Amino acid sequence: MTGLRVIQGGRAAEGLPGLLVEGAAEVVTMAGGLRRGPAQDEPAILDAPGSEPTGDRGPVVACWEGQILAAGPRAELIRALEAGGYPLSRFARLDAAGGTVTPGLIDPHTHLLFAGSRERELVLRQRGAGYLEILAEGGGILSTVAATRAASVEALEEHGRRWLAEMLNHGTTTIEAKSGYGLDLATELRLLDVAFRLGAAGPVDVLPTWLGAHAVPPEYRSRPDGTEAYVRHCLDEQLPGVAAQGRARFADVFCERGVFTADQSRRILEAARRYGMQPRLHADEIAPSGGAELAAEIGALSADHLATPSAAGIDALAEAAATEQPVVATLLPATTWFLMHDEFAPARTLIGRGVPVALATDFNPGTSPTPSLLHVMTVACLELKMTPSEALAAVTINAAQALGLADETGSIEAGKAADLVIWRVPTHRQLPYWPAADLVRTVVKRGRIVVERTPA
Ligand code: NIG
Ligand code: FE
Repeated sequence: MTGLRVIQGGRAAEGLPGLLVEGAAEVVTMAGGLRRGPAQDEPAILDAPGSEPTGDRGPVVACWEGQILAAGPRAELIRALEAGGYPLSRFARLDAAGGTVTPGLIDPHTHLLFAGSRERELVLRQRGAGYLEILAEGGGILSTVAATRAASVEALEEHGRRWLAEMLNHGTTTIEAKSGYGLDLATELRLLDVAFRLGAAGPVDVLPTWLGAHAVPPEYRSRPDGTEAYVRHCLDEQLPGVAAQGRARFADVFCERGVFTADQSRRILEAARRYGMQPRLHADEIAPSGGAELAAEIGALSADHLATPSAAGIDALAEAAATEQPVVATLLPATTWFLMHDEFAPARTLIGRGVPVALATDFNPGTSPTPSLLHVMTVACLELKMTPSEALAAVTINAAQALGLADETGSIEAGKAADLVIWRVPTHRQLPYWPAADLVRTVVKRGRIVVERTPA
């Protein structure tokens, strides 16, 4: 049996500062910045046309002390390295074995940390129960809140490590992780702190987001003005506490008809921005709720879900897309699929209107219990009619932009983090094509080998 092995702390190949990834049939660099419109379908490929992957024109990626140094055809690249004072003897070699090399995948929307599971709801939904109906009856998010409040820090850490390892084994090297299953200050802080510390321990980078306004918790629900009272609690108690803790980089709100209104979402996100947390939001997941419009109005980094945006919401995102600070449309089609909803996000319209599209798992116990971005890419191809190249841009450079990290990661370009995946397929077009197959050969994080396939 062969299998994948996560290497704790990673391994610097042969203890050398340099790493040459060679023998690939295709290196997808995603160089050239954010993808929107027709460019979302242009991945920037180095391949070995008419020559052997290991020949002089075969594509090679050179890394040095955790960063990308260069990528290009072997002979040319090696000449440039030597001329630049990087002797070949200081590079370890990593064989891509005729596979594909891509940037490490980036998952810009996850609810990584929670306790328990909700398989019971799958059966309820099969019998016709609605997602928001289950929530209104005190189940859904609220049942995960009860389990998460009762969980120890150690249990949350162990859960986080387990699912981060799963994500890494599927090629993900950076994620965003939301709180939102505490809904009181103490538990929200605990979730943010665990997320932060898991990221600091590595190898997967974890960017924490405060999602205090994920649902109205039970202690507020019996009050006549419960939602508004909880919004004030978020503004007056949670937000200052979260800001003082300093772990959350972003703030998010579940802006949805019957949950938090666009106006309540605006108040929370604008207040969070004054504390230095960049806004993003759950927008129009189940019904048009003004989320896309709000994201454009406040200049959110990304508007997520967008399964049911209004025509005005799409117009607003298209207008924002024409500016220097576009709002990334982060689509979560595995959620729509898992909820058995018919209406998927209008990806073709968004791309056609020039809106940059990212994809994410939405990993959570209710609506999308998958850690795999490859699975999400498959659903995006089948249901959103995105091409495999568009889907790959959506989980690399555009996902980096959705996290404000486009200068640091998301493409194979000089100076960026050496976050790479070697896949056991000869072209990236096969990544969404083998659903549920185990396609990872090797994962490199900041130049260190963090996952490798054990030999037979
Ligand atoms: O993105 N809809 C809000 N939040 C998550 C689901 C959370 C849950 O059901 O536990 C989502 O779908
Ligand atoms: Fe979500």
